[in-house]
Amino acid sequence: MIIRTETTADYSKVFQVNYEAFRNREDEPKLVEKIRESKQFIPELSLVAEENNEILGHLLLSKAEVINKNISHEVIVLAPIAVKPEFQNKGIGSQLIQEGLRRCRDLGYGIVLLIGHPTYYPRFGFKPARRYGLELKQFNVSDEVFMVCELIDGKLDRIKGELRYPDTFFKI
Ligand SMILES: CC(C)(COP(=O)(O)OP(=O)(O)OC[C@H]1O[C@@H](n2cnc3c(N)ncnc32)[C@H](O)[C@@H]1OP(=O)(O)O)[C@@H](O)C(=O)NCCC(=O)NCCS
Repeated sequence: MIIRTETTADYSKVFQVNYEAFRNREDEPKLVEKIRESKQFIPELSLVAEENNEILGHLLLSKAEVINKNISHEVIVLAPIAVKPEFQNKGIGSQLIQEGLRRCRDLGYGIVLLIGHPTYYPRFGFKPARRYGLELKQFNVSDEVFMVCELIDGKLDRIKGELRYPDTFFKI
């Protein structure tokens, strides 16, 4: 299996992976399409896991902002991640996330934020975000599911404020 950057030729297969992983609902695959069309999209942060010419998993990381009074920090949000149901629990999601975080760091991004399963993401370095002075008001979620991963030492001390997901996330 390889992890590589998504190409336009993968789009329909990536739709299918997200559709199946999210229990045959179209919200997440449509969110992927919207993010691709937005200015927050970074092509090399849309990753696929491929084996035998089949797309087994997909991860999308894209730009968002943390706003503190009139200061805006560009950050990355992880959403969505999807692995085909019959290929889950084989480490594919982990490989996608590890490669995705490595690429974010290489691009110079200091922190990655997400809303997700509190038992899954801590293994990659994610920690509850609110205790670091990060806030989320757009979604009413508990402290343990709103998480942050520091990629560059010291960035968590410097980036404080409210995470704002782009409008794309609300117009599906
Ligand atoms: C979440 C997901 C991407 C993980 O990918 P994966 O390839 O199955 O994960 P890995 O094989 O790398 O890791 C397996 C671990 O993830 C855990 N896991 C899988 N789905 C989980 C879930 N919904 N909640 C919590 N933990 C989950 C497994 O219990 C396993 O834990 P263990 O290593 O302690 O046994 C995949 O299960 C998926 O597509 N789920 C449906 C879509 C979804 O919920 N996406 C995330 C939205 S935040």
